Amino acid sequence: MARPKKQNPRSRLVNFRLTEAEFDSIESEASAAGFESLSDYLRYLHEQHATTAYKHKGVKENAVLYGVPEPSLYRKTERGKLYHGDALGLLHKTLEPDSVDLIMTSPPFGLVRKKSYGNEDADQYVEWFRPFAEGMRRVLKQKGSLVIDIGGSWKKGIPTRSLYHFELLITLCRDYGFHLCQEYYWWNPAKLPTPAEWVNIRRIRVKDAVNCIWWLSQTPWPKASNKRVLAPYSESMKSLLKNGYTPKLRPSGHDISDKFGKDNGGSVPPNLLALANTESNGAYQDYCRANHLPVHPARFPGRIPEYFIRMLTDKGDLVLDPFAGSCVTGEISESLERNWICIDLDEMYLKGALARFVGIKPQLPKVDSTPYQIYPPCSMNGALDDSLLPEDGGVKRSVEKSRQTFR
Ligand SMILES: C[S@@+](CC[C@H](N)C(=O)[O-])C[C@H]1O[C@@H](n2cnc3c(N)ncnc32)[C@H](O)[C@@H]1O
Repeated sequence: MARPKKQNPRSRLVNFRLTEAEFDSIESEASAAGFESLSDYLRYLHEQHATTAYKHKGVKENAVLYGVPEPSLYRKTERGKLYHGDALGLLHKTLEPDSVDLIMTSPPFGLVRKKSYGNEDADQYVEWFRPFAEGMRRVLKQKGSLVIDIGGSWKKGIPTRSLYHFELLITLCRDYGFHLCQEYYWWNPAKLPTPAEWVNIRRIRVKDAVNCIWWLSQTPWPKASNKRVLAPYSESMKSLLKNGYTPKLRPSGHDISDKFGKDNGGSVPPNLLALANTESNGAYQDYCRANHLPVHPARFPGRIPEYFIRMLTDKGDLVLDPFAGSCVTGEISESLERNWICIDLDEMYLKGALARFVGIKPQLPKVDSTPYQIYPPCSMNGALDDSLLPEDGGVKRSVEKSRQTFR
């Protein structure tokens, strides 16, 4: 009798080239783990990887799990919808799966000292964020991106930092299958030197002036183009473009080809965004003050969402901000002709956000391309203070030191 055909015939034969050492190591690992063949071992490793990477790909549409109601529509504009309520309801119920091109957001940070807009406890942060992460995976298109602006935090009473925002990043990649496209740092040159106790009084830390911005995606190949966010050329690059460039090997070993001298319209920016967050007057603030509404205390400047919206979406795409606050993301999306959805828990912030959509068309921030200045490390050659370092790490707060004011 003929043998029945195999359901799943293993008909592909694949050759791998390995060094002797690699082969020995793989074979001994496989046999130690009880596999009869290298093929079985390889299949096992692949399955393991695939389940970890895509564990949350098929997010259960178990909205009941989160027991939150659907949010209510608060205001509609030509391109956008502003909702009032819990973002979990929006992410798990209201929005269609695979419908959003970019999630651009700044969630409440994990702080030790809570602020007025309801920050989450740094220690509990990742657990708090999990259901949002699931919902974000659910609604984001395969080629879409998730951009999270998040500030760091100090531990209570000691001069060391919380790891919560790094833990969030690792959890999003390890447990929810996101890829880290790139980590950005947003340097705010106008940040005050805090916490005063560590920075100004004991003088044992420097000022914390960067937020992290995690750019994540569902695949390693989300849609993106850095040509949308080019920076002006430096004076030396302009002169090089004008006067020509001789291709040569750099001291670093990089071979700079003659293509380096080609004018591409601007330079590729670094993953450091330099932008002061100082806007204290403007139509939004005027509206809030005139209507006795709170001005949102944790707004990001419009240029932050503008940068990622330009780089990661096309006109007509859908941008979502699940922690919208004063709806900066909505205003910028509307101006850039993207569709948008924003939501916030706090109705007082939404009332203020309406300022961005009454009467006049939403505006992009005014163009100001003045570069900021930052000195190279040790620019003063350590000339100011030659006293010995505190052996105790600054644990004793010296009276003399505490009288010093910061400069
Ligand atoms: C850092 S602020 C965002 C500020 C915003 N980027 C802006 O420029 O105005 C975070 C916001 O998330 C809101 N929020 C916190 N939990 C929420 C939830 N479960 N659903 C919706 N919004 C939430 C807070 O009310 C707060 O306004």
